[in-house]
Amino acid sequence: MTTQSLQVVILAAGQGKRMHSRLPKVLHPLAGRPMLLHVLDSARRLAPTRLAVVIGHGGEAVASRLEAPDVAWVVQDRQLGTGHAVMQALPRLEEKGVVLVLYGDVPRIATGTLRSLFDAAAENQLALLTQEVDDPKGYGRIVRDPSGRVARIVEERDATEAERAIREVNTGIVAAPFARLKAWLAGITDDNVQGEYYLTDIVAAAVAEDYPVAVRRPQTPTECLGVNSKRELARLERLVQMDRAQALLDAGVTLADPARIDVRGELACGRDVSIDVNCIFEGRVALGEGVSIGANCILRDVTVGAGTEIRPFSLLEEAAVGENARIGPYARIRPGTELGDEVHVGNFVEVKASTFGRASKANHLAYVGDATVGRDVNVGAGTITCNYDGASKHRTVIGDDVHIGSDVQLVAPVTIGSGATIAAGTTVFRDAPAGELTLNEKTQVTKPGWKRPRKK
Ligand code: UD1
Ligand code: CA
Repeated sequence: MTTQSLQVVILAAGQGKRMHSRLPKVLHPLAGRPMLLHVLDSARRLAPTRLAVVIGHGGEAVASRLEAPDVAWVVQDRQLGTGHAVMQALPRLEEKGVVLVLYGDVPRIATGTLRSLFDAAAENQLALLTQEVDDPKGYGRIVRDPSGRVARIVEERDATEAERAIREVNTGIVAAPFARLKAWLAGITDDNVQGEYYLTDIVAAAVAEDYPVAVRRPQTPTECLGVNSKRELARLERLVQMDRAQALLDAGVTLADPARIDVRGELACGRDVSIDVNCIFEGRVALGEGVSIGANCILRDVTVGAGTEIRPFSLLEEAAVGENARIGPYARIRPGTELGDEVHVGNFVEVKASTFGRASKANHLAYVGDATVGRDVNVGAGTITCNYDGASKHRTVIGDDVHIGSDVQLVAPVTIGSGATIAAGTTVFRDAPAGELTLNEKTQVTKPGWKRPRKK
């Protein structure tokens, strides 16, 4: 075990031209969260004493968007190279311990890999994360001496033909003791093809003073993939989603197809949960034991109680559903909704900012907004709460054991007493008393002999 402290510098000043976007590259979402947040998460798990992120000119958007109070934002006005970028961050660090350099556009880097690099650097070594790849194009190559020891890193554009054939490449991620890193960086120049201060030049500097250079490998072959284009972002998105699907399968969740689920937040599942194809989970979603989610559902910030069935094509947002309930198909559950146990909300029913007590049902074609619905209530097909008068929203209160017939308008604010029955087609514009039948008196007239117009 090491007693050395760790500080992390994340390079994120690049503009990301190849993304062809106004959004700074590191803010592009991966699994629903800005790419940089994934890197910050991996870094934070190592409990660094300082966390600095180097952003470019105009990168203030990054700082304000991410609201990370533990981050020291460092502005690098001109991108003069990775070495220059790290130098900008040094004054914001403590002059001790190990410094780990990460990239804001390499979001899948695993904490375990970083820990191995940190451990190596904590033993007074320069620790490089390198990888053997089939196609080394674009990467810095690891040049070794005849005895196999690392001699330096050469960037592709500065490399000879022979050096370009080297398949061991620099992932870019390095760790080194603060004092040595600072000294090596002070010595690097921009005397190279790109006219940049290369962080990679610290390797030759370490070798020149016989300082030990350690090499570590990433735990998985794809975690060091970076994002420079939408293509690469899409590829990483699939990798992240496949990781998540595998983790769900490993935890016992049944997935109809692990390639057709998207988790853009945190999905917690009890035992025997099953999820059909094309479902999207956003924010924090918790599914209780035995929950089943039908095909093509979207759930955002939702909790679902044990035994509940969410049928296909349902959209639920910021809501809580009780146990053994049945939602959908084609249900729309909007924010602020709490549905009790055994509730049924059926097809083409929209519920907003409403509560339903145990075993209440709205099975077809209804709009229930800003309502408090008691237990054992039946809301008939075509019933709507008229909750909006053009200026403000009003509440509808429905007692327990109320039966509302089809095609009823409940003009809020209005209260339906417990046990009341509302006849089909009623417009309820005054409170309806408990236990009674309420209806609008209407007459039904038949016009004998009336003829409907016909096309000739
Ligand atoms: C760098 C490495 C190369 C490695 C490759 C891995 C150097 C000199 N080269 O090359 O050996 O194989 O990464 O992908 O380090 N950045 C700044 N400020 C700058 C320049 C870059 O913050 O002035 C940031 C970028 O936003 C990016 C990262 O550093 O996140 C890497 O920069 P990039 O220009 O992509 O480096 P490469 O040329 O790919
Ligand atoms: Ca790059």
